[in-house]
Amino acid sequence: MSIVELRQYTLRPGARDTLIELFEREFVTGQQAVGIHVGGRFRDLDDPDRFVWLRSFPDMRRRRRSLEAFYTGPVWRAHRDAANATMVDSDDVLLLRGPGFTPSPGTREVGATICQPPDAAAFAAYAARHLGPDPLPASVDLAAYRVIQEALTNVRKHAGPGARAEVSVVRVGPNTEITVIDNGTGTGAADGDGGGHGLLGMRERVTALGGSCTAGPRYGGGFRVQAILPVKAAETGATGEGTS
Ligand SMILES: Nc1ncnc2c1ncn2[C@@H]1O[C@H](COP(=O)(O)OP(=O)(O)OP(=O)(O)O)[C@@H](O)[C@H]1O
Ligand SMILES: [Mg+2]
Repeated sequence: MSIVELRQYTLRPGARDTLIELFEREFVTGQQAVGIHVGGRFRDLDDPDRFVWLRSFPDMRRRRRSLEAFYTGPVWRAHRDAANATMVDSDDVLLLRGPGFTPSPGTREVGATICQPPDAAAFAAYAARHLGPDPLPASVDLAAYRVIQEALTNVRKHAGPGARAEVSVVRVGPNTEITVIDNGTGTGAADGDGGGHGLLGMRERVTALGGSCTAGPRYGGGFRVQAILPVKAAETGATGEGTS
């Protein structure tokens, strides 16, 4: 699949699950029937009115043909009023170049942070097939593992009972970005000044590889840890500046 659409809908307050129910029941098979590959569907944990989903096409020509077929076809006609009634904005669309697309020289890779797929197994399979990143260099891989391990340990220790966490690992250009967010009590001290060693150790490990790390309460509740690790530097054996 060469062209991936990343669509981010803003929905009317409280309408997200109505749309998801309709989407799963009608629009997945409805689009598949006209040759559209429907990928992951997500609830954005940071925004209760946001629904994010992916679909892909072999190329732009077949994209146009499939979209025409779907939006003039019986499934959309039967359900579009119900779908549109849930939406405030459906125009936030990014076209991503998927594996198999030959980029022009200098084009950067594009990644998206994604949350809580309704069907986790289907998303894992989709990501492995279509969105899988290259394996990381060992030093970056280990640092990423330690960041996630410490962040998830902190969720268990500090976020309070019943908290849930989301982990994302996304390759963005020359970096790998690791984000761990939770929806817990999140009142902890930002950036590791709270007396423990975990966040400080994490920061040291990440900066030693030339990366950066932030941690702190999220606006609206919960806690976020984000680490940005340069991959290209590690691949060429460098750990910071001064390489050629
Ligand atoms: N997920 C989280 N939710 C709420 N507070 C957090 C979370 N993660 C960290 N904190 C806060 O940040 C502080 C610093 O975390 P850090 O990992 O550095 O130390 P610690 O977990 O208390 O101790 P250590 O990691 O050394 O065992 C914690 O004491 C806690 O107050
Ligand atoms: Mg800790």
